[in-house]
Amino acid sequence: MFKIVSRFSGPSVGHIGESCSLIGSAKFHVANGALCQKSAVKSPATDLPEMPPCDFKPVEYKDLSKERMMEIRRQNCHPMTMKVTYYKKPVFIHQGHMQWLWDVDGKRYLDLFAGVATVSVGHCHPKVTAAAEKQLRRLWHTTNIYVYPTLHEYCEKLASFFPDPLKVVYLTNSGSEANDLAMLMARLHTGNYDIITFRGSYHGGSPQTMGLTSNAAYKYPVANGLGCTNTMCPDVFRGPWGGSHCRDSPVQTIRECGCAQGHCMANEHYIGQLKETLVTSVPSRIAAFFGEPIQGVGGAVQYPKNYLKEAYRLVRERGGICIADEVQTGFGRTGSHYWGFQGHDVIPDMVTMAKGIANGFPMGAVVTTPEIAASFGKGVHFNTFGGNPVACAIASSVLDTIKEDGAQQISHDVGTYLLTELAKFRDKYEIIGDVRGKGLQIGVEMVKDKVSCSAGLTGGDTRLTRHAQFVPKTLIKTRKQGENSVGTDSSDNNGENK
Ligand SMILES: Cc1ncc(COP(=O)(O)O)c(C=O)c1O
Repeated sequence: MFKIVSRFSGPSVGHIGESCSLIGSAKFHVANGALCQKSAVKSPATDLPEMPPCDFKPVEYKDLSKERMMEIRRQNCHPMTMKVTYYKKPVFIHQGHMQWLWDVDGKRYLDLFAGVATVSVGHCHPKVTAAAEKQLRRLWHTTNIYVYPTLHEYCEKLASFFPDPLKVVYLTNSGSEANDLAMLMARLHTGNYDIITFRGSYHGGSPQTMGLTSNAAYKYPVANGLGCTNTMCPDVFRGPWGGSHCRDSPVQTIRECGCAQGHCMANEHYIGQLKETLVTSVPSRIAAFFGEPIQGVGGAVQYPKNYLKEAYRLVRERGGICIADEVQTGFGRTGSHYWGFQGHDVIPDMVTMAKGIANGFPMGAVVTTPEIAASFGKGVHFNTFGGNPVACAIASSVLDTIKEDGAQQISHDVGTYLLTELAKFRDKYEIIGDVRGKGLQIGVEMVKDKVSCSAGLTGGDTRLTRHAQFVPKTLIKTRKQGENSVGTDSSDNNGENK
């Protein structure tokens, strides 16, 4: 499992791959709608370690030329896809094997972004691939109105990963679809309409989930968000409150902490903001609160340790149900637990998931309680592809493989090492404001200047610092000649960013 996020990661990967140096004077500039820090390093360091060896040999690429692919992309693909080709020289991926990717020229990359937090056990993992092949030869498609073994085996297996009373599984094709369904179920079950999410969150791009999402880049100027309200994200680095003990991470902020033992003032303040939202912005009865255990697209933002516990209590007092969006944090990625919510010592009423669920095969799920499921059962819900036999066979193999390969422990061990090493960069370089996260869900936030940023006072244009967050090139660019890391800019652009 490999994932390092940028504050603007998630569906649009881009910023993680841009060429940003860590040393020297900071100079910001804008291009392609993205803000990036211009490199101050003119020549690369000479003491970079080499990439570890790899025995796997990719097949020789003999298909469309790069130029032809870009031409097709420009002419026949949605114009939006050009926006997400962030790299000055786009990366043309051709083959994957475990943590490695190869481009059409045979250049090897370390996929630090795990296919946008989606590849949970490695690209084309042999065991998962075998499970897919076996099912492809047997039955590609039938729908969940028929009874077939793969769906039932999978639902039982997935449910066994959840504590009571989370035992009823709905299968979908994506995270947005899972969150759409969760919104509907919450509203039907509670009889209430209003849903609260965090500012900065990303919960999907469908017309309904666009309302949950609180991030201008992913919003279109159409009616969306009816009944959706965003509350302050308890961001202990960037927000107005935070100290050096707030989060569940091997790395804390560089902010001072004057709290008495076991008493987190930042948490109290952020809960105060939620209370303010509850008394001013929504009716007295609400349908749901949606929160990721670690805010992914928002920049791997971690909340004060007891925040979710207290928030869940307040939401339930108002008739709402609590929904954990585990699209990024699920399936052991955070290392310490299988689900991100377990790290907060809470049990949600509903959990939504996708991405890592099937190692990149399109799939999503909602897991909820029999009681909530019963409210939804009053109507007929049909989904042609939800629970597709091939998807279920793959997802089932993913659950087995995470266990057999010890992927959760690997996330913990490698992630903790990476975090502590990244923290040394944070201590050394002014431009790295914060390092945070758990397991292999890691954020590195680049800043204009550390002190004003960590105090949440970013001055005139907060966008400059908000959007500029990258994986340190000096850490992950462990390349031999002709090798690279996805997540860094592969272009030899002389330190110029796009
Ligand atoms: C936390 C979170 N929820 C939901 C989604 C939407 O998932 P999908 O892109 O599969 O619709 C994403 C996608 O990035 C996500 O990061």
